[in-house]
Amino acid sequence: MPDKKLILSKEAIGRRVQELGTIITRDYAGSNLLAIGVLNGAFMFMADLVREIKLDLQIDFVRVASYGMSTTSSGKIRFSKDVELDIRDRDVLIVEDIVDTGLTLACLHNYLKERGARTVRTCVLIDKKERREVKVAIDYVGFEVKEGFLVGYGLDCREQYREYGEVFLLKEI
Ligand code: IMP
Ligand code: MG
Repeated sequence: MPDKKLILSKEAIGRRVQELGTIITRDYAGSNLLAIGVLNGAFMFMADLVREIKLDLQIDFVRVASYGMSTTSSGKIRFSKDVELDIRDRDVLIVEDIVDTGLTLACLHNYLKERGARTVRTCVLIDKKERREVKVAIDYVGFEVKEGFLVGYGLDCREQYREYGEVFLLKEI
């Protein structure tokens, strides 16, 4: 990996994921939870988070691309893998790695609502609040990070560095 700075250690991520799991367990007690992970970035967060949610739940994934091979948002989203489970009347929790402009989450939220989900909430590991372009409600946030391009723990730069257990700031992209 090129010049980098550690932003979130494995321990910090582990502690926060456990806290989020506890809160989500409490909030969704007695409901019909379907966690939908946004591929590829959320694969690691999703795997850790669902193990901290002490409820019966179901898991599905979508693949939405807004960035392609570039590091700035194109402003458009494209589904390359849709939800496969029936989401009608389900309590859906979108699990996403990072929210930047908010376009991906806003589109996904509307789409899942239109498909008949009973409730749709979102859980993101990292909120890059300062770059938000569209208003989108985020119900569960792991960490707020001000700026920069982040990689690791599922996050990539041109499909690299997803495999790291911690999150780094890339100094040059
Ligand atoms: P948004 O639609 O602009 O909110 O973009 C969200 C998507 O862009 C996320 O799901 C990520 O896949 C990607 N993204 C945004 N910021 C970063 C970053 O700092 N590192 C890696 N991917 C990012
Ligand atoms: Mg993503």
